[in-house]
Amino acid sequence: MQTILDFYARTHTPYLHALGRAGTGYLLQQMAPKPGSRLLEIGFGTGQTMLELTCRYNGVEVFGLEKSAEMLRVAQKRFAFSGVSADRLQEMPASLHFPFPSNFFEAVYCESVLAILTDADLAKMWQEIGRVLRPGGYFFLNESVWREGVSMARMAEINQQCIEAFGIPQATVTWPYPSDWKHLAEEQGFEMLRCISMEGIRARLPFQMDSRLFRSHIFSLAGKSSMLFSVSLWKKQKLLRRLFQQFATKEPYLEGVFFWCRKKD
Ligand SMILES: C[S@@+](CC[C@H](N)C(=O)[O-])C[C@H]1O[C@@H](n2cnc3c(N)ncnc32)[C@H](O)[C@@H]1O
Repeated sequence: MQTILDFYARTHTPYLHALGRAGTGYLLQQMAPKPGSRLLEIGFGTGQTMLELTCRYNGVEVFGLEKSAEMLRVAQKRFAFSGVSADRLQEMPASLHFPFPSNFFEAVYCESVLAILTDADLAKMWQEIGRVLRPGGYFFLNESVWREGVSMARMAEINQQCIEAFGIPQATVTWPYPSDWKHLAEEQGFEMLRCISMEGIRARLPFQMDSRLFRSHIFSLAGKSSMLFSVSLWKKQKLLRRLFQQFATKEPYLEGVFFWCRKKD
């Protein structure tokens, strides 16, 4: 089944999460990885955040796992176009067993991935993240979750509409609110160091003179401009715009939240 994510892959769209580029700026600012550290991104989409980290932090090794073969292919193309090795980009195994040894990473992060998983996948994902992180290692998430006060019935209704319109749900109803994610993290052997709404955050990803980042930007623009030459993509974009407008007229029901968790020793 085609989803909105296939459209974003075909148009090389980066920063598909709360606050977009600024959200990634905030993540990098909080993560501030030290040289020699190993990082893992879950669900890297078209690969922009992995590329940002690789280009902005010398000596950092960034690995990534992505479920969609189409996203993986586009991210590999982005890396090749930007002159960066794509060797650390891999497809997520169907078993969700990460192909890395235990205690391998200093930090794991994801941007708008975990909240759209099924309950079974969400639980398995936390277990695997806990396994591959070293004790005391950090897990950062930028996830869009339900605002406190949105009823279960309303969540179910919106998820159903989103599945019909976009092919994916909006957010999990099992762990709906930010406070639930705190419990979820604790159940999985983490302590929650920070849980903050992205709405109050003023962050940016500063300009950096780097030809690889410049080429990656060109790659994103090339994907976007492909809509000018493809009738089917152009039609799809028009349809999505109309659907977004329908959803935007309703009360805001989601909130981007930044979670910073630490694996207990
Ligand atoms: C909303 S997009 C966000 C992409 C990227 N993180 C970004 O912010 O631009 C969600 C991504 O998660 C990926 N994804 C969904 N389920 C996954 C899973 N079980 N394992 C790895 N990636 C997954 C999707 O294929 C998609 O690329």
